[in-house]
Amino acid sequence: MQSSEQPAILSLFPEGSSVVDGEIAISGVHASDLAAAYGTPAYIVDESALRQRIRHYRDGLSLRWPNSRVYFASKAFPATAVYQVMSEEGIGIDVAGGGELVMALAGGADPRDILVHGNAKTDSDLKMVLDAGVGLIIVDNLHEVDQLTALVQGTQDVLVRIRPNVDTDTHEAMSTGHGDSKFGMGPEETRRAIDMIQRSKDLRLRGLHVHIGSQVFELDAFSESIKALSEFGEFEIYDLGGGLGERHSYDDPAVSVDDYLDAVVQAAKDFLPPSSRIILEPGRSLVARAGVTMYRVVNVKRGGKTLVAVDGGMADNLEVSLYGQRFEATLSNRFHGEELVSVVGRHCESGDELIDGVHLDSPAAGDLLLMPVTGAYCFTMANNYNGSLRLPVVFVSDGVPRLVVRRETYEDLLARDVLVPPLQPKR
Ligand SMILES: Cc1ncc(COP(=O)(O)O)c(C=O)c1O
Repeated sequence: MQSSEQPAILSLFPEGSSVVDGEIAISGVHASDLAAAYGTPAYIVDESALRQRIRHYRDGLSLRWPNSRVYFASKAFPATAVYQVMSEEGIGIDVAGGGELVMALAGGADPRDILVHGNAKTDSDLKMVLDAGVGLIIVDNLHEVDQLTALVQGTQDVLVRIRPNVDTDTHEAMSTGHGDSKFGMGPEETRRAIDMIQRSKDLRLRGLHVHIGSQVFELDAFSESIKALSEFGEFEIYDLGGGLGERHSYDDPAVSVDDYLDAVVQAAKDFLPPSSRIILEPGRSLVARAGVTMYRVVNVKRGGKTLVAVDGGMADNLEVSLYGQRFEATLSNRFHGEELVSVVGRHCESGDELIDGVHLDSPAAGDLLLMPVTGAYCFTMANNYNGSLRLPVVFVSDGVPRLVVRRETYEDLLARDVLVPPLQPKR
């Protein structure tokens, strides 16, 4: 039975989540059933909601600018199953380096539908992507032109990444378009790169690229960066990057994919040739809201500030300590809490705090705690702090869950050791 009163936090959960018989269900499956089947902590992804968001982006862009294509910035969630969903939905893939290339190909991506990023691509990265036959390489710096000239056999299509000198409202660590950014080239170097590539017999310059950062809500900043592209002449392709912010907390603005598409396409109409091809490469705004992290409360300390300690933390979510990202959370079966608590992780760092101040309903050891909007960059930056095991990923679609990444094991932790002898059972 579905409750008539749906808690406010559901506005941050994957669309289609609901309260059924007093408990949150993701794509129709109760959190407690997911916990019983797959354990905690775990990343849960509503596959139906993910596919819906991909189609919204894909169709929304092609409706507004038919000569266009969406590529998934796969750094946001580099799991083979996610690459597979993106490829099945017919969008391209953006990879940075050999590892993401391997996973993209394993997920079924057509190499011609892959574009390649990176501010420090090594020769071996470049050899790999050239051997695979990728569609586009985004040239980040002048040295890369020399590297490619030495390595390319035949012809390779490339774009040149500009640094537009546009600041954004995002965290410094997520801002990539300002004058001192390590990504792309300033105007003088851009012109030199264009000139070098145009004179090369192996490299074919198809256009320009810009990307100003992540978790950006300021639509004017995107428009400004598109204007900056128009200062270098007219090209066939313009890759306008990704970066649209996703609402992670009640305080974040709600800028929709449609608002964003309206703004970037308007700027493209204002500043770019009408016959050009437009590429967008969203990451976070494609995957963030489809993901929920499920934790078990291990203990609660009361006295001073109430601290709710869970069985995960900064090893499965670095967004908080790296970017200061604010998240919300709820218990899986009690929503209208009055108790102000902080949710802390289990790792040996005081900074391992997932949420500084959130209202929960009398949390106690054993409760299931759900943290929504964790589908972007959490899996990406997962680590083994304190020997913790990286989380499984469970897709849920129309009431059916399936494991797509298994939980790491202690054997995995030892798997790369070379000198340590295998564990012997104690006698
Ligand atoms: C070149 C490039 N394109 C696209 C993205 C995706 O950004 P976001 O996940 O914020 O959409 C990134 C990540 O910052 C990036 O570096």
